[in-house]
Amino acid sequence: MSTTIKEKSPRMVRPPAEVVYAEELSALAANDAGPKPPGWRLSPRAVRQFIVGSDGAALAHTWDGKKTRTVVTQKFYGDDALVERCIVTLLGNRGLLLVGEPGTAKSMLSELLSAAISGNSLLGIQGTAGTTDDQIKYSWNYALLLAEGPSPRALVPSPLYTAMKNGALVRFEEITRCQPEIQDTLVSLLSDKAMQVPELSGSDGVLFAGKGFNLIATANLRDRGVHEMSSALKRRLNFETVAPLSDKVMELKLVKEQTDALLRESGLNIECPADVLDLLVTTFNDLRHGRTAEGTVVEKPSTVMSTAEAVAVSHSAALDAAYFGNARLEGGHVARQLLGTVLKDNPDDIKRLRQYFDVVVKVRGKDSKVWQQFYEARKWFRA
Ligand SMILES: Nc1ncnc2c1ncn2[C@@H]1O[C@H](COP(=O)(O)OP(=O)(O)O)[C@@H](O)[C@H]1O
Ligand SMILES: [Mg+2]
Repeated sequence: MSTTIKEKSPRMVRPPAEVVYAEELSALAANDAGPKPPGWRLSPRAVRQFIVGSDGAALAHTWDGKKTRTVVTQKFYGDDALVERCIVTLLGNRGLLLVGEPGTAKSMLSELLSAAISGNSLLGIQGTAGTTDDQIKYSWNYALLLAEGPSPRALVPSPLYTAMKNGALVRFEEITRCQPEIQDTLVSLLSDKAMQVPELSGSDGVLFAGKGFNLIATANLRDRGVHEMSSALKRRLNFETVAPLSDKVMELKLVKEQTDALLRESGLNIECPADVLDLLVTTFNDLRHGRTAEGTVVEKPSTVMSTAEAVAVSHSAALDAAYFGNARLEGGHVARQLLGTVLKDNPDDIKRLRQYFDVVVKVRGKDSKVWQQFYEARKWFRA
């Protein structure tokens, strides 16, 4: 899969980051005075700025044949130092492993890093219990293999093979879901930076990684633990733990910006009042921590109440308001969509959500219209 996509097509549900942010990447490249490491599209400083934003500063560049100025938006929130450490790791000889709870933007960060550094975030392997050696290294086009015997033409490269060949980053999602023997295939690839192809002879029998090659893996703490990773592989990766956002103000800003962006993408114009978004983020914080800002203890649902889920709820609530309401987001829409997030596979979670409504939401509803609408929507909570 050596595909790269340059154009944004209105038909695409979700274009890759290098396409979504093509204009920002062009602005950064035009203003990038820093030294570029071999194989990198941008300097480390520009990569960092792509991820944490230009703080409102507009960068001059030529886009679509016209002179223009572009502001680089903030994409990852909460930990600029983590972003720097990730970039430094990728400059070195070790791969990067992002670990953390689900929904802490590990995949997003790996996509943004590959888009900025290699201009391509599509070279990726999804780890599953069934991932095989071939999916990591290469396989064969059997028709050609039978007709001509092993040849470079008959070899079907994996995304990792392509990344080594092109000197690019490869993403490995949910690496700890793979069997340990499969994970260990990576050990020699990462230490030698070369892949043996014993079926081919001469110089085709070994592929040396080009400058710019490295690996970004992700692992969720809620899946089978990282503990099951072999120590040989652990030594070849730098671990970075991505923590959930701890600052409510920042989470609120993120939810607002991302919801607005998703709605713009769907071509919808919906009012998302600040107090409704505040209610949503407050509810997520209360349920995530099992305690409200006022100190009331509430039972935590078993599902992860991540920021990614908060964005998903606010987006669907806004769609609900757009298509079944009067284009104004209200507390009731949030309540209806919250159900799908909280109620996954544990039937006790509905009781926990009801308790939260009876103990916390009801009281807040006495002095606030949005909380009152939110409380009234508990009629949707059938067990
Ligand atoms: N610190 C953060 N900065 C930006 N977005 C975040 C952050 N934490 C969570 N998100 C949300 O998470 C979404 C991406 O989640 P994802 O990368 O799939 O998480 P993970 O791979 O950790 O499970 C983002 O689109 C955003 O809505
Ligand atoms: Mg992920």
